[in-house]
Amino acid sequence: MSAIPAIELNDGKTIPQLGFGVWQIPNDEVGRAVAEAIGAGYRSIDTAQGYGNEKGVGAAIRDSGIARSDLYITSKLRTRDQGYDATLKSFMGSLDRLGLDYLDLFLIHWPVPAQDKYSDTWRAFVQLQRDGRIRSIGVSNFLPEHLDRIIGDSGVAPAVNQIEVHPEFQQRDVRALHRQHNIAIESYSPLGSGAALDNETIGAIASKHGKSPAQAIIRWHLQEGLIVIPKSTHADRIRANIDVFDFELDADDMASIAKLDRRDGKVGSDPATNNAIW
Ligand SMILES: NC(=O)c1ccc[n+]([C@@H]2O[C@H](COP(=O)([O-])OP(=O)(O)OC[C@H]3O[C@@H](n4cnc5c(N)ncnc54)[C@H](OP(=O)(O)O)[C@@H]3O)[C@@H](O)[C@H]2O)c1
Repeated sequence: MSAIPAIELNDGKTIPQLGFGVWQIPNDEVGRAVAEAIGAGYRSIDTAQGYGNEKGVGAAIRDSGIARSDLYITSKLRTRDQGYDATLKSFMGSLDRLGLDYLDLFLIHWPVPAQDKYSDTWRAFVQLQRDGRIRSIGVSNFLPEHLDRIIGDSGVAPAVNQIEVHPEFQQRDVRALHRQHNIAIESYSPLGSGAALDNETIGAIASKHGKSPAQAIIRWHLQEGLIVIPKSTHADRIRANIDVFDFELDADDMASIAKLDRRDGKVGSDPATNNAIW
């Protein structure tokens, strides 16, 4: 079984560097995928209220027989439940659906700037962490101006910002800013939601190492010091995506991948303008 490295966070806790994402896996199918993932050696699962599959994830982690302390469970607050009181209540709903009494990591899923509630929401996250209900608190899709605001208002920097990062959208400037606050980056859509898998450069690097394009890309995230949460519903891919600790990309590989960064490489929506309420 693979030894997954741990990344130390700015609150003194640690997070497994490689985890399993479950976006777009329906509640009645997620149990099988999570069981495959845990069987393959993943211990970190990334779900969200908005994915509608917290119940299925909770059932799978109970059925796994793995001690709660050996698992790392992340969920995210849906956008319609932002605000101080609504957040406290909504968080309890996640615990209830997951069947857990604490979360390892809870994230504000999107800032939703037009709603202007993310700073009050963050205060509730700080309180929930003080109450011992969440080990680490973080955000997702936060741009530098959103981070500045919550840090300025609360004095507490998030441990993690989960943002889109993959070879075709590397966000190097943004990542440098996070290092100043010691905020860890968790790469979402690490395979570009699948789009980066067809890249020719990635294909050549993968062949050179006798690995698949997905494995080469996941290895790139690890060597960049990023936390990475690939998703798959296929058992063979779930197993392959964690089988990335027996090879290393060399300096030439890393330099070639650095050149794949594109301004228009983003596959997800823009946090500055995504004000969807759900
Ligand atoms: N915070 C946010 O706003 C946000 C946004 C997006 C994603 N996320 C998180 O990040 C996780 C991963 O992102 P993602 O789901 O967008 O996409 P991803 O992990 O970048 O890519 C998943 C896609 O690649 C395919 N795939 C996976 N492994 C493969 C392999 N070894 N060979 C070939 N194809 C493979 C999957 O297909 P199959 O499933 O058919 O195998 C799926 O189509 C999500 O599940 C979620 O937890 C968060």
